[in-house]
Amino acid sequence: MTQDEMKKAAAAAALEYVESGMVIGIGTGSTANHFIDLLAEVKHKIDATVASSVVSADRLEAHGIKVLDLNDAGTLSLYVDGADESNKALHLIKGGGGALTREKIVAAASEKFVCIADESKLVDTLGKFPLPVEVIPMAQAYIAREIIKMGGKPVLREGFTTDNGNIIIDVHDMEIIDAIKMEADFNKLAGVVTVGLFASRPADVLILGTPNGAVTV
Ligand code: A5P
Repeated sequence: MTQDEMKKAAAAAALEYVESGMVIGIGTGSTANHFIDLLAEVKHKIDATVASSVVSADRLEAHGIKVLDLNDAGTLSLYVDGADESNKALHLIKGGGGALTREKIVAAASEKFVCIADESKLVDTLGKFPLPVEVIPMAQAYIAREIIKMGGKPVLREGFTTDNGNIIIDVHDMEIIDAIKMEADFNKLAGVVTVGLFASRPADVLILGTPNGAVTV
């Protein structure tokens, strides 16, 4: 099985969490795209969706799936999204696609967060994947200095602007032992919009695509 087939297997398994009349939060990335395409086959079952990015909203609408503004949707029953890394506690690194802020908002507004990924995303220690941080542009140099003090190597994501008009600094070479504390430490820095650590609100379920099919962690 290819990596993409494993992503699709995880996405297909997440369909089991879809129930009649739900409004579902939808993530961003290639695994979330598989979920969107599969959801299209059962779209009559659900009420609507809320998207975590413009690109996912466009894909949903192209399938004829209703997309609501989060402010009009209330609490979501379910959020389905991919991840760049997960540890066994289901603390995640997200934001490889740059949609971390809206993803974190939609995850926070959802009762259940089902994370879908291929098996390569499960790691013992988070941090091999560079940690994305969305930053207000004027704070770039200040945040870069703070990241160095924290032991990381800040790298500006060149030529990239988030859906919210901000920049992304990817933090390399940071071994993340206490993800909850590190998330809180980043959140304290003026100019940080969102750090791509999803630890204080981790995933509730992790479905991994493996060569033998989908496995729930
Ligand atoms: C998007 O900002 C990310 O958080 C994605 O969820 C993450 O990059 C996973 O992407 P893939 O599903 O393409 O691996």
